Amino acid sequence: MDLNINDENERSCIIPFWPYSVGELMEREKEKDDARLLVLLFVALAFLGAIFAAHLDMRYAGITRLLWIVPFALVPLFVKRSAPSQLVCDSRGLRLETIAAGTVSVKQRLNWDDISEIYLTERKAKQRVLDQYICFKSKKGHTRDSYQSATRHVPCPHALLKIKLETIGTAAHWRTLVHSIYKWSSIEVKGVDADLFNNLNIDQKAPTYTKIWLDAMLAPPQRHLITALNNGVSIKNGEYLLEDKLGMGGQGSAYLARTKGGQEVVLKETILPLYVESRIRRQALENFEHEARILGSLNHPNVVKLIDCFVEDHRGYLVLERIKGPNLAEYIAKNGPLGETHAVPLGLAMCDILSYLHGVSPPIVHRDFTPDNLILRPDGSLTLIDFTIAQQSADTATANVMGKHAYLPPEQFRGKATPQSDIYALGCTLYYLLTSENPEPLTCSHPKLVRDSVSSAMDQVVATATELEASKRFSSAMDVRHALSNI
Ligand SMILES: Nc1ncnc2c1ncn2[C@@H]1O[C@H](COP(=O)(O)OP(=O)(O)O)[C@@H](O)[C@H]1O
Ligand SMILES: [Mg+2]
Repeated sequence: MDLNINDENERSCIIPFWPYSVGELMEREKEKDDARLLVLLFVALAFLGAIFAAHLDMRYAGITRLLWIVPFALVPLFVKRSAPSQLVCDSRGLRLETIAAGTVSVKQRLNWDDISEIYLTERKAKQRVLDQYICFKSKKGHTRDSYQSATRHVPCPHALLKIKLETIGTAAHWRTLVHSIYKWSSIEVKGVDADLFNNLNIDQKAPTYTKIWLDAMLAPPQRHLITALNNGVSIKNGEYLLEDKLGMGGQGSAYLARTKGGQEVVLKETILPLYVESRIRRQALENFEHEARILGSLNHPNVVKLIDCFVEDHRGYLVLERIKGPNLAEYIAKNGPLGETHAVPLGLAMCDILSYLHGVSPPIVHRDFTPDNLILRPDGSLTLIDFTIAQQSADTATANVMGKHAYLPPEQFRGKATPQSDIYALGCTLYYLLTSENPEPLTCSHPKLVRDSVSSAMDQVVATATELEASKRFSSAMDVRHALSNI
């Protein structure tokens, strides 16, 4: 949106609201759908009634005609139920407007004269910038319920109006809002910085991807590069030069690339679907953002590090530190099964990684802890990659069954992965290292049945880790570590 705030002829500015998180958005859309359905139902009923009455007796036709009023009477109700679509700021004040059924209606109006103070709530530890509110306090001290049905915890309870930053959502609109408030009311918005959104970067504890969303949703609907990218292609304005393709996954490819400074990195690409409903596009973006968010919050020497993430040409890119070396699947395929002297230290390293992930608050379940996703560096250390389907327990559990099937415990098939599901996968990975065979799906694995040289103690560790009932498995990665170190 272009707004020249020095232009005195500019009458008002409009800040369109950005949808909340996808889940809440869908709830809202569902609500609207319900209302639409109701209106349609009444129209249909009135129509049928009119025909019926006309056939029966002309006397009733007049009454039935009246029925037509019902659906129209419902329109204001529908408008009232809808969330505001935009905030309008002009010389008189602010107003929240709803656009529904083709009409604009004012939900709430605030005059500048009634406002004593405008401020941004403080950001608490672990809160995202977008979780803050901009609050408008009344001169009269009276309070009114504001529009924020989606939030349970409500800060600044005495404000006339409060708006979660998430609903503003783009740097340009935020800047416009802050500037217009000052322009029209001369009230300074306390605690803000007009560049608030611009100063964010993913190294912060609470990353936000507003820029990514904006870039992705507003980009023209055409893809310049139709197929997988070729070597030598430069992306993000020449910041990264592609050198090699590492693999092709379901969502895109992974590339070896070099930064301008000569650093080797891996670009993991997610191709964002183009010609689909915006809801599906948002979901794809959410998935991409999800992996970035989890990786960005982690810091462990044996977990791959996120360097950057961005969207270009309808593809999301994670820029990851490049881990040299084969993954465990490649290593075993080439060198055959490992003896226990090799397998035990690798097992211990896996336990350390899982203890770290499960110890984060809330715990992170990797859900794809397989030999493909563990890279063996030349110095013998292991690094875990691929957080595509990792889940932080606070997330609403998705019922999707993803991951390599032979490494999934029964509860993960039912869509209920817990930290112990990773312990099952760890047992399967140990089985693979010792036998060079993938385990039987949904089976308690005994490597000794395949290779007699495996010790009974080791066999027992693998079997306990791969118990089908989670309660019979080791209860934590530390317990597996303890058992392994006693072999
Ligand atoms: N940071 C990295 N360093 C080196 N190779 C990587 C890195 N990330 C991914 N790869 C390679 O790319 C492949 C695919 O990446 P991955 O994150 O596992 O995605 P997918 O979801 O497609 O399995 C991996 O198997 C690995 O060979
Ligand atoms: Mg993988």
